[in-house]
Amino acid sequence: PESSILVTGGCGYIGSHVVRQLSECGYQVVIIDNLSTGSKENLIYDEKLVVGDISDSKLVESVFSQYRFDAVFHFAASIIVPESVKMPLKYYRNNTVNSINIFDACIRYGVNKIVFSSTAAVYGENELLQVTEDSPLNPTNPYARSKLMDEYVLSDMRAALPNLSYVILRYFNVAGSDLLGRIGPRNPNATHLIKVACEAALGIRDKVTIFGTDYPTHDGTCIRDYIHVEDLAKAHLESYRYLRDGGDSIVLNCGYGRGLSVREVLKAVELAHRKPIKVSEGYRRIGDVSSVIANSNRIKKLLNWRPVYEDISSIVESAYHWEKKLIRNSNSERRIFSVNQSLGR
Ligand code: UFG
Repeated sequence: PESSILVTGGCGYIGSHVVRQLSECGYQVVIIDNLSTGSKENLIYDEKLVVGDISDSKLVESVFSQYRFDAVFHFAASIIVPESVKMPLKYYRNNTVNSINIFDACIRYGVNKIVFSSTAAVYGENELLQVTEDSPLNPTNPYARSKLMDEYVLSDMRAALPNLSYVILRYFNVAGSDLLGRIGPRNPNATHLIKVACEAALGIRDKVTIFGTDYPTHDGTCIRDYIHVEDLAKAHLESYRYLRDGGDSIVLNCGYGRGLSVREVLKAVELAHRKPIKVSEGYRRIGDVSSVIANSNRIKKLLNWRPVYEDISSIVESAYHWEKKLIRNSNSERRIFSVNQSLGR
């Protein structure tokens, strides 16, 4: 059979943007997703979807034996830092143990290209203006440690299996959505700043709370390197091309190299909304570090990655319009439901 690409977690927020770009470039895609946070609605072309959990070895086995994969893009994971502090085993199980399940199948079926979703959280607290891939690793929460373990697993696998090659992408703070508003973050219990702030602007929640105003930064709030999901998705396609061209295993930061404080992000959301939003100041959130900014020289050089949405306003605008669309859709669903009810359907 023709070879295809396996995308675990392809119905999730980031995975689905990558799936969309892969389909648009003509690649065959097969997805495994348990739909716990992802949604079928995030698939806009007719990619093959296997609904199931990657902890299910039988299911993983049957997918690998049914198709011939040229590469695996492994997104499926739990990703919420504060939740990981409260439920560490969920993170070690979903992110570390289950990844081993996927990597093991890759080895047994001879799939030797892996693109792996890691996180800037592996750097943890640092005093650096920018972190490079060789900066010290100091993960401060179970989420970050569960991902760093996967990085070690991949690197040890590579040492034992010279045929295997991977790109580990360390994502900085991903936000925004597809520019045509077809897909975006759907999770109703969002914790990420830009989504939460857009929800506050649009009345889905009454306010946004700033977690900590006493950090050692210029305005006392945390600094992050926010990156548009479309640019991040493109980095995945370029990672795959790099591996196909014989590129060696590598770890790459995926951020823009500039930092924004929480207050600066909230200002950008107010600009998109054209009105002030309700903001309150709260305590620090457990597991947070004061600042993380990427040095992205390596990815730009090796993959020739050229990001195009670096401006925070384009990230926030797309996030804001996506949120508006979700509200419109849920209102019309509610209307259809009540019409059906009154018609006794
Ligand atoms: N924040 C608030 N109020 C909120 C939500 C967030 O003040 O309601 C603050 C946080 O304290 C933090 C910043 O906004 O300072 C960003 O928080 P997010 O929850 O949006 O993102 P995190 O930085 O905690 O984590 C994200 C991803 C991780 C990734 C990390 C890299 O979830 O996977 O970015 O920096 F590792």
